[in-house]
Amino acid sequence: MTDTHALMARRDVMGLRIGVLVSGNGTNLQAILDACARGDIAGGVVLVVSSSAKAFALERARRAGVPTVVLTPKEFSDRASYDARLIELLRTAQVELVCLAGFLRILTPQFVEQFAGRIMNIHPALLPAFGGPGMYGAHVHEAVLASGVKVSGCTVHFADETPDGGPIILQSPVRVEDDDTVESLAARVGVEEHRLYPAAIRLFAEERLQVIGRRVYVVDPAGPRAPAPAGRALLREGDNFESAGLTQAKKV
Ligand code: GRF
Repeated sequence: MTDTHALMARRDVMGLRIGVLVSGNGTNLQAILDACARGDIAGGVVLVVSSSAKAFALERARRAGVPTVVLTPKEFSDRASYDARLIELLRTAQVELVCLAGFLRILTPQFVEQFAGRIMNIHPALLPAFGGPGMYGAHVHEAVLASGVKVSGCTVHFADETPDGGPIILQSPVRVEDDDTVESLAARVGVEEHRLYPAAIRLFAEERLQVIGRRVYVVDPAGPRAPAPAGRALLREGDNFESAGLTQAKKV
C-alpha cells in the first residue's frame, strides 16, 4: 500500500483533483490520464485505488506517476469499514471528484454522502437499459445482443448507492451490427467510452454541469445557471465533442 504521506505530497496537480477507483484493465483510467496530460481537463488524477492487486490499471497509474493503493475486500470485515478507509484515503489526497472506472463494488450510502454530487461512473450501455445488479463487463453486451436492440452505447452518470443509478450526464450511442459478438460490440463501445468519460470530467472541471432532480444540464459557463442547455448531452456516433457544442471554455 502506498504511504499516505506520498498521497499528500502530490501537489503538482493544478485544478480539479481526481481520484479514480478501478478493479481491472483500466482503459478508461488511461483515457482520463491521457486527457489530463493533453490539458483537455483542467485537473489531474491524484490517486488511483484498486480493489484488486492484479488490476492492470495499477500499472497504468504507476507509469503516469500517480500514487496507487490496493484495497482488497478481504482485508475488511464489511462494506462500511471498506468504504470508511476509502473515504479516508480520498480525503487525505484532497480528491474533489471520484471517478469509478470499472470499480466492481457497490458504494455504501455513507460513501455517497461524503462525496455527494462528486462521484461519476461510466457504464457500457445506454442507461437505464441494461444496468443494475449483475450488469457489468461482458454480461452487459451479452444482454444487449440477446435482446435484439439495434443501438447500444455508453453512459456517464453521477453515482449514488444504487448500481448504475444517479442522474445521467452524457450518453453516446453505438450501432449494434448483425454479426456483432460480445467482443466486437465491447470494442466499439469502448472507443466511445474513452471519448465520453474525459468529456464529462472536463465539463465538471469547468463547472458546466447543473443537476436539477434527475436531469443534468450542460450549461454555458458565461450564461445563466437556469436550465439553458448549451450543448448536446447525447453525442452522435462519430461526431466530435466540439460539434456537439461542448467545447471547452476559452482557456485563460
Ligand atoms: C468499462 O466497460 C466501463 O464501462 C465499466 O467497466 C469497464 C471498465 O473497463 N464500468 P476498463 O477497466 O476501464 O478497461
